[in-house]
Amino acid sequence: MARRLTGFTPSGDLHLGNYVGAIAPIVSEQDSADTVAFISDLHALTLEHDPADVRRRTLEFATLLLAAGADPDRCLFLIQSHVPEHTELHYLLECVTGYGEAQRMIQFKEKSGRQQQVRMSLLTYPILMAADILLYDAEEVPVGEDQTQHVELARTVAQRFNTRYGETFTIPRAVNPPVAARIMDLTSPSSKMSKSAASAAGTLRLLDPPDILRRKVMRAVTDADNEVAYDPATKPGVTNLLDILAACTGEKPDSLATRFDRYSDLKTAVADAVVATLTPVRERYLQLADNPDHVQEALRAGATRARALASAKVQQAKAAIGLLPA
Ligand code: TRP
Repeated sequence: MARRLTGFTPSGDLHLGNYVGAIAPIVSEQDSADTVAFISDLHALTLEHDPADVRRRTLEFATLLLAAGADPDRCLFLIQSHVPEHTELHYLLECVTGYGEAQRMIQFKEKSGRQQQVRMSLLTYPILMAADILLYDAEEVPVGEDQTQHVELARTVAQRFNTRYGETFTIPRAVNPPVAARIMDLTSPSSKMSKSAASAAGTLRLLDPPDILRRKVMRAVTDADNEVAYDPATKPGVTNLLDILAACTGEKPDSLATRFDRYSDLKTAVADAVVATLTPVRERYLQLADNPDHVQEALRAGATRARALASAKVQQAKAAIGLLPA
């Protein structure tokens, strides 16, 4: 069984795109894939952050994953900072990564360009991400396009370490989620639905109450003519609504298009489907959030199991790279 690993950085709000692209696949495949799911809280410290906010969202994200059906008995489920081996391996991997390699990362260039003070951790974050992956011998890493380059770096670093210091790491590869998982912002359908959009009007958040979800769908931008058709190039707004309906119902977006004559009927169907998909997750979340001890217990057990794997891997890497065993 291939081991597959996914990380969620606790910044912004989890939304429908995260749900259909990343969370639902974890839940539906946790028996057929050897799954590692974790909250990458350390990655939330690479940009200006509010400590209370990171803490709150870490618990919120973990609770949402459990609410969606991630089962800590069937997958490895943890908070990154609860397993100190992530940072320990990070340092060892820094010693096989070039400064130029880190500087070339497109996301680093984009994010650092927008800031006055650039944290050192923003530059080294893809190496921490490599540590996240290599620590657990993950083979498959499902990521969007924006993270593919980071998984490539993890491959390069793993290969280099193995060549120089002996077989230590499994070589991972990026796997892309299905195209239908590209859910776009409802108010600007040329950009992906994002955890940190400037306005929440185009983002269907997992914790939005049903009336808010409905209102956002009914106000989604459509296109000038009043024809329901699936055409990403000329009709991005309507196409996105059809993709959302398809993702929530499991049907094909182009065949769904033939069922609607008017935008308002399509929107009503999308709103119903989104509410039907997300309401059970939100309700389960509210129950779990009332019982934080249960969540904490799952996180403690997850960290303990993860450390058993992670510490063996770090020992192996330390010995290979030339450190004297304690
Ligand atoms: N960087 C990823 C993101 O921002 C989250 C992440 C952290 C991750 N470590 C990872 C994803 C390891 C896959 C593998 O979305």
